[in-house]
Amino acid sequence: MSQNTCNRRHALVTGSNSGIGRATVNALVGKGWHVFAGLHHADDAGDAYDENHVTTVTVDVTDEGHLDEAVRVLSQHLGDRGLDALVDNAGVGVAGPLEFVPLARLRTQLEINVTGQVAVTQRFLPLLRKATGRIVFISSIGDRMAMPFAGPLTSSKAALSMIAHSWRQELAPWGIGVTIIAPALVHTEAADKLQRDADEIVKSLPEAGRRLYGTTFSEMIRRAVKQEKGGSPPTAIADAVVRALLARRSPARVVVGKGGRMLSVLAMLPVPLLDALRRRLFRLPAPGSALEAR
Ligand SMILES: NC(=O)c1ccc[n+]([C@@H]2O[C@H](COP(=O)([O-])OP(=O)(O)OC[C@H]3O[C@@H](n4cnc5c(N)ncnc54)[C@H](OP(=O)(O)O)[C@@H]3O)[C@@H](O)[C@H]2O)c1
Repeated sequence: MSQNTCNRRHALVTGSNSGIGRATVNALVGKGWHVFAGLHHADDAGDAYDENHVTTVTVDVTDEGHLDEAVRVLSQHLGDRGLDALVDNAGVGVAGPLEFVPLARLRTQLEINVTGQVAVTQRFLPLLRKATGRIVFISSIGDRMAMPFAGPLTSSKAALSMIAHSWRQELAPWGIGVTIIAPALVHTEAADKLQRDADEIVKSLPEAGRRLYGTTFSEMIRRAVKQEKGGSPPTAIADAVVRALLARRSPARVVVGKGGRMLSVLAMLPVPLLDALRRRLFRLPAPGSALEAR
């Protein structure tokens, strides 16, 4: 569709080269939108999209130059129109025992999942304001439930959700709705990435780290990956995004995906009870059980 003549509603979806992002692009196109698919790298597989209704843009959320260029591309296509929706979906998950997580990896985690989301949203707010558009942040059920060895990831999602809650209140005067989508178990490419990264982390642990945490961490990841692989398809999350964008009022937070209801209830349990449940579920060592092995 040529620039300025496209009368469809418009959305930008970051992290569109796989998983939930790709499913969201396709779901929105299915509803008659024109979508700007933000691809992490210039050589990502954007050619899988229907080019009449999808414009691909390279958006590494940590790259200011990419954001400048994306604003230029969108503005050119939109002409006098604004942007109807921004789906802040891009994200990574760093796992590992916090005692040994390289600080550079922790910084990257927060840079992509928190600061990067704010950077994209800041850049596109003028266009969103023009159309009284909506923002969806893809957070996680983990924004309210910390898991062992997932400290970097869950802390980033908790921070992202808090930012979304602030933004919802700040943007209300302009009618710009802000929704947090909190996926539970979803089977995407992220499960394989988690397994691959975890294997690398175990290899890169110092001898003490491997001795103290290696077995427990590997077992925890094995179970987490298995659970994710049994999760909902990414289309379930994409459908929830579309519903949030089309709802009369933007919902504040939507939990979606397999296990979501149960995990939401568990998150409200007293902490000692919840810890005991997690220990059972992930076969974690009992409190005090490693005292001998110091
Ligand atoms: N799968 C789940 O169970 C689950 C549960 C809760 C929340 N989520 C959240 O859902 C979102 C989508 O995840 P997914 O499951 O669909 O996994 P995914 O397939 O790995 O999707 C993440 C996307 O973000 C991209 N990305 C990574 N770093 C980026 C950066 N710096 N700039 C721009 N894009 C970047 C990835 O590109 P590359 O592949 O090139 O790195 C990928 O396309 C994430 O925010 C994730 O935290 C997923």
